[in-house]
Amino acid sequence: MSVTIPVGLGDRAYDVRIGGGLMAEAGAHIRPLLKRGRVAVVSDATVWALHGEALTSALARADIVASPVIVPAGEGSKSFEMLARVSDDLLALELDRGDLIVAFGGGVVGDLAGFAAAIYKRGIDFVQIPTTLLAQVDSSVGGKTAIDTPRGKNLIGAFHQPRLVLADLDVLSTLPRREMQAGYAEVIKYGLLGDFAFFEWLEANGPGVLSRQTEALTRAVARSVEMKAEIVAQDEREAGRRALLNLGHTFGHALEAETGYGEALLHGEAVAAGMAMAFRFSARQGLCPRQDAERAQAAIAAVGLPVRMDEVAGYPFDADALVRHMGQDKKAEGGRLTFILARALGEAFVAKDVDAGAIRDFLIEDGAVAEGAAA
Ligand code: NAD
Ligand code: GLY
Repeated sequence: MSVTIPVGLGDRAYDVRIGGGLMAEAGAHIRPLLKRGRVAVVSDATVWALHGEALTSALARADIVASPVIVPAGEGSKSFEMLARVSDDLLALELDRGDLIVAFGGGVVGDLAGFAAAIYKRGIDFVQIPTTLLAQVDSSVGGKTAIDTPRGKNLIGAFHQPRLVLADLDVLSTLPRREMQAGYAEVIKYGLLGDFAFFEWLEANGPGVLSRQTEALTRAVARSVEMKAEIVAQDEREAGRRALLNLGHTFGHALEAETGYGEALLHGEAVAAGMAMAFRFSARQGLCPRQDAERAQAAIAAVGLPVRMDEVAGYPFDADALVRHMGQDKKAEGGRLTFILARALGEAFVAKDVDAGAIRDFLIEDGAVAEGAAA
């Protein structure tokens, strides 16, 4: 079973193909996009060791020579240093504009390789072959590319749409369960932000998705991509509605910053806790029924994802430090904080003028401590 979802962006439109066995067909899908049979494959060491040979052979069957550019696995690779190294490797390969970069990995590789593609010789085409659930349902679609700096995550980047996304569900068979759970947070996000029926379906079918049952996994990835594609086609540059995709991210980024963007708290786990916090904050402000916040939280917790700060390594967190991280977030405008809040399950909205004091009070009530009191 395979599904194709178009991302309607005019002359930059592209397809997202979702299904089993797509990697084996990669050459046939990519060859029509090439002037000559050459690509650079940017991947991380873990993904390359597991699946590099299969991809190289699949490309070779379509007469495509693939040159690997391998970076260490992990968020640390989204850095200026690694961007410089990858760019230099691409130059050494003498890649030109008729060639193409394949981003083969999770969100880290997609964001890094996509940004390298955006700036390499003022822009070269790239294809995403996402290998984590998170990358398949979110980061490979929509053209956001970025690296991190010591001042914050994703602060340096570009919008650069891929020419094609191949989401091969079979590749997820090697993904550790914790990474599946982290990716599932972004799946629930779509239900919570805009599709109550999908949310209800996930309440019943979440375990099937996580245990990679073909039908459940296909439906979950396809509905997520369909929602993302629809939002991106309407608002590519995040002038409005696309910001809804940041549900849970402002709280989540603050927790990630406090925990050092690493193994202690994966991005999807931070988003999970952040979404639960966004719903609790919405309920506290009287914007959303308390039962909806509880139900959102229950659905997130049911698959083993964190919903409260005291479940996150490094707890207790300092409320003022968290608020300061939120101020660094690129979603902060003019000193006021922008949050994605909820009116109900499946009804998120952009709140542009949230008072930092109200957030601080909420954080303390929700388990953070006042400045100086954290261990
Ligand atoms: P990741 O890329 O670090 O991958 C997670 C881990 O899984 C890595 O260790 C990787 O080597 C391993 N891995 C990947 N595929 C595997 C497979 N098939 N089998 C076994 N191991 C595998 O992390 P991620 O969760 O995919 O992505 C997180 C990143 O995505 C963050 O940097 C985040 O900012 C970014 N992101 C970007 C967007 C966007 O729109 N551009 C959206 C969401 C998240
Ligand atoms: N992950 C948020 C976005 O793509 O806009």
